[in-house]
Amino acid sequence: MDNQANLETAQARIAEAPDPAALAALERELLGKDGLLGQQLSAIPSLPPAERGPAGRAANELKTALTAGLQARATELAQADLARDRAGVGFDATLPPPQVERGSLHPITHVTRKLVEVFTSMGYHILDGPEVELDWYNFEALNISADHPARDSQDTFYCDEKGSLVLRTHTSPVQVRAMERLTPPFRLVCPGKVFRQESTDATHEHTFHQMEGLVVGKDISVGHLVGTMKTLLRGIFGRDIDVRLRPGHFPFVEPGFELDARCVFCSDGCRVCKGTRWIELLPCGLVHPKVLQAAGIDPDEWSGFAFGLGLSRLVMLSHGIDDVRHLLGGDLRFLEQFSC
Ligand code: DAH
Repeated sequence: MDNQANLETAQARIAEAPDPAALAALERELLGKDGLLGQQLSAIPSLPPAERGPAGRAANELKTALTAGLQARATELAQADLARDRAGVGFDATLPPPQVERGSLHPITHVTRKLVEVFTSMGYHILDGPEVELDWYNFEALNISADHPARDSQDTFYCDEKGSLVLRTHTSPVQVRAMERLTPPFRLVCPGKVFRQESTDATHEHTFHQMEGLVVGKDISVGHLVGTMKTLLRGIFGRDIDVRLRPGHFPFVEPGFELDARCVFCSDGCRVCKGTRWIELLPCGLVHPKVLQAAGIDPDEWSGFAFGLGLSRLVMLSHGIDDVRHLLGGDLRFLEQFSC
């Protein structure tokens, strides 16, 4: 068969290709190494030298013609497809949609949002602070001097050799940054990640979440602190919950307290409250005058209270999670249990 006949047969097949897949197969067959064009090209070297030039040109013409034919058919098929779509052919509105996998909020995010909602409703600002913090804000300005024993309990990741830059060990430094910037009176909370260099086990993790709270105003007292905590608990649990204060020591508050809340899981002792009917909720206290002073606020004129809510602990308590490492472990089997 001569070239012309070959081309005509091929063009006829191209014109009949029913769909893009068939067209692609045909393209491989015609233009591929073993196809019509490939055979012509591979025959060239064995031709007498005088015939090679014309044979090469003929092969090129064949390739150009086939490529144009394939391209034209591809356009035709695409247009026919579009026309069918436009006419609604092959579209079934009753078919169920493809399954979409839904994610969910991490329980820490969920509880943070809930708390932010309650605090916002009480007129609090929501503030952010750096996770890599100056030693000054993380310790010094909070009345924790270089030789203070409280530094031992906050195993610190240092970021430089001088030790002036740390990964914040708590969210309390945001108190100082906020007091420097804001003019009293004000109320704020700061949720965020904190870091401690400790070996991890079921109750210790190098990264966890806290929410710092700070209120500065005229004549702020322990009564305001207790009232605020009760409002917070009512906001979360939808009912009144009793609280009690025990003495606690933190260098940046005076007096300092541990605030307990009545167990929300039982009325006569359970595993969560270890039979005591009280749950340790958070440490808190009245802002130490030295801290107010370090941030440029006159302690003779202003006073305040502060609290440090352990968000990770709160999530563990409310969901009965017994190993803190689950929280940031990234195991989908764990995360899929929360559909909030
Ligand atoms: N920053 C403290 C810690 O993580 C917790 C804390 C205690 C925060 C007492 C406070 C407070 O605001 O008043 O160990």
